[in-house]
Amino acid sequence: MCGIFAIVSDQKNKKPVNAAQVVLEGLKKLEYRGYDSWGIAVEVDGKLVIDKHTGKIGAARPKLPQSSTGLGHTRWATHGGVTKSNAHPFLDCKKEIGLVHNGIIDNYLELKKSLKRQHTFTSETDSEVMLHLIEEYAQQDSFTEAVRKAFKQAEGLNAILVIHQGKVVAAKTGSPLVVGLGQGQNFIASDLWSILAHTRKVVFLEDGQMVKISPNEVKFFNINSGKRIKPQIKTIAWKQESASRQNYPHFMLKEIHEQPAIIDRLLIDKKAETKDLARLIKKSQQTFFVACGTAAYATIAGQYFFSKLAKVHTDPATGSEFIYYTNFVKPHSLVVALSQSGETIDTIQPVQLSKKKGAKVVALVNVLGSTLYRISDKRILLDAGPEIGVASTKAFTAKIVLLLMTAHYMNGQVKNGEMDLKKSSDAARMVLTPKYQGKVKRLAKKIKDVHSIFVVGRGPSYPAALETALKIKEISYIHAEGLAEGELKHGVIALIEKNTPCIVIAPNDETYHDSISGAMEMKARGGLIIGITSKPHEVFDIILPVKDCGAATLIPSVIVGQTLAYELAVLRGLDPDKPRNLAKSVTVK
Ligand code: M6R
Repeated sequence: MCGIFAIVSDQKNKKPVNAAQVVLEGLKKLEYRGYDSWGIAVEVDGKLVIDKHTGKIGAARPKLPQSSTGLGHTRWATHGGVTKSNAHPFLDCKKEIGLVHNGIIDNYLELKKSLKRQHTFTSETDSEVMLHLIEEYAQQDSFTEAVRKAFKQAEGLNAILVIHQGKVVAAKTGSPLVVGLGQGQNFIASDLWSILAHTRKVVFLEDGQMVKISPNEVKFFNINSGKRIKPQIKTIAWKQESASRQNYPHFMLKEIHEQPAIIDRLLIDKKAETKDLARLIKKSQQTFFVACGTAAYATIAGQYFFSKLAKVHTDPATGSEFIYYTNFVKPHSLVVALSQSGETIDTIQPVQLSKKKGAKVVALVNVLGSTLYRISDKRILLDAGPEIGVASTKAFTAKIVLLLMTAHYMNGQVKNGEMDLKKSSDAARMVLTPKYQGKVKRLAKKIKDVHSIFVVGRGPSYPAALETALKIKEISYIHAEGLAEGELKHGVIALIEKNTPCIVIAPNDETYHDSISGAMEMKARGGLIIGITSKPHEVFDIILPVKDCGAATLIPSVIVGQTLAYELAVLRGLDPDKPRNLAKSVTVK
């Protein structure tokens, strides 16, 4: 959460850069991390000039003078409302030190108390406390030492960039930072992709490390000791994948449409890695799957696949809760962490804890070089390409494909698994045709103003129901509840009234008959019954058909849910790519 970007460049370069413009381009790429406000500071003759705004960057242009050095921030608010004064960067009284911050300073109130007398605070943020603390230390220490001492006092998981007299110092205990090494210019940013346009030589800053960059020099230090450390420079060979919308009105729609091709590609490319994961699961005493949000729903689906296909019990765990029952993690446990971004703190923390307990960690992750990618013992890349829409779509499908392939390797029925998955990519293409989507749009028009939508399923259709409901609520802001259909009678059915939309995910599997019974019960209470199904039944008022692809039917079923959510958001005049209050990468607790 929050994106940070800095450039320091030599003014004597043949082609002098416009720092404000470079930072702006970097921030646009980082906006997925937070987009409630943004700001940039550039340095001119040792003095900092800032430009801050609330809202998304959009087509805005910063009004800043020419400069070769600057930094910027795109915010996801934690402490203090969404206002211009709470937007970063923050400047000291003399306008010579500027700071941007990602994270939460747990002890900021305590620190603020002692600083209040000497410093004027202009925001409600925890971040500004760090700036004034640095200002204090800078009265007697060098700039780098002042940053180090102040940062050491901050409790919590944090990353900061501080600019002063042509240099930027960065420090981190949490939240990603990547240093980009250029010729006569250097960079620091929250992710690799925002830097790759400038250089392919990078260093991933690890927790407990800090770095000082100037145009022609980069020095790394240990925060605790202050001693110099040798960086591990990596040359990135990967192509900077295009993250353009092409002709789609939104990234989310483009990403939804990419799914059939992703399934086909993974089927060919991921044989060896999923076979190896199958071997590790077989070998381990117990396997925990850890993830958050959409990725956590993929792990619940995985539990059904492993149980049904491979007759092996696995434990799906919500990342933010897993830390409270790691008692069960032992040296022979296997922890499989699933994450699109590879930066979700609630997934990373349990992984770190499990590693301490001696467990082996495998990551199924989409972002190369992300924290999860780096800290895991083994990693399988989802290879879904950059996912820009805040609502996760293609990364979910990629995880389901990998989990299904793994389960099939475990039961030795690889060919059957491949056939089902091949069918699922055809089925996905079918539900994405304009004709089919016309039907989805008509349904969206019919239900766009309802108060609540219920989505139910049994077995692997239960996580499909959870995922469909999450997609609907996060981008259309309609209250949507996903649940195991059998749970209806235990309370939720009290909410079903005349015309309440009830989406029943009912593939033609062993859950079908019970699913129909549940649908009947909701219909008897006046519910509008919408079936996402491969077997029609008279109980359904509206049918969104999906082809039967065995266990892989979950994939086209969820894709139908994704497109319904998308259409609902668009009809309600919302931006599905950047829903309110959310960020793509959740790096704070
Ligand atoms: O990057 P991750 O897969 O670790 O992210 C986990 C969740 O934050 C993410 O899936 C979130 O729930 C999405 N907004 C869902 O669309």
